[in-house]
Amino acid sequence: MDGIGHGREARVRALSREKYRRRAARYDATCGPTWPIRERAVALLGLAPGMRVLDVGCGTGLSLPLLRAAVGEAGRVYAFDHSPHMLAQARALAERAGWRNVHLSEQPAHCCALPEPVDALLFHYTHDILRSDAALDALLVQARRGARVVVAGIKYFPRWLAPLNAWVYLKNVGYNGAPGGLRTPWDRIAPRLSGWHWEPTQFGMGYLGHGRVALAADSR
Ligand SMILES: C[S@@+](CC[C@H](N)C(=O)[O-])C[C@H]1O[C@@H](n2cnc3c(N)ncnc32)[C@H](O)[C@@H]1O
Repeated sequence: MDGIGHGREARVRALSREKYRRRAARYDATCGPTWPIRERAVALLGLAPGMRVLDVGCGTGLSLPLLRAAVGEAGRVYAFDHSPHMLAQARALAERAGWRNVHLSEQPAHCCALPEPVDALLFHYTHDILRSDAALDALLVQARRGARVVVAGIKYFPRWLAPLNAWVYLKNVGYNGAPGGLRTPWDRIAPRLSGWHWEPTQFGMGYLGHGRVALAADSR
């Protein structure tokens, strides 16, 4: 049991961990097509040397080299994931690279508690986390007021391409415990941010959005 122990959210998380147990070994090989989106998402975080950033649902750690390069030796990268199989690869990567300021933890999003406020949060293809109000509440409170939040992921094509959405759904169901909510996957996080803006990616089957944390821990 991990905080929100029983009920729908716990079932979604259990399903997600099982999906990523099976998917972890081949995960990185499937991420090539979305690499330019990852680079744009990290660029939108506006990181600079010395900053602190949280990689939400970091998976195998594919974003870590970009984040670590942006914040440098003096910054700090925090990252977590609830899948031990995904996170093991992130840990191996950090160990190989010898990063001392990349802090990884295995935990569900709604239990996240960092030792300091962060300047930016990255949600890169973390659909299940975006569908959980408990997770979003726990994560956004980890940031300082005005922290930049960048969100990228999969969504349904616009209505005129609707026949293709059965394929989008099937693609998504292989990764997520809660595969619904693909029309506007950002609709729970966007109202929590100021200056939300999004644009379509991948001919409309993806999105990249960003905003800023309006209320930080010190103002609640
Ligand atoms: C599609 S992968 C994305 C991984 C990484 N962000 C990337 O861009 O490659 C989604 C990740 O979110 C993690 N995840 C899903 N729900 C979670 C939750 N409630 N708490 C923590 N991690 C979660 C999964 O284990 C998985 O590693």
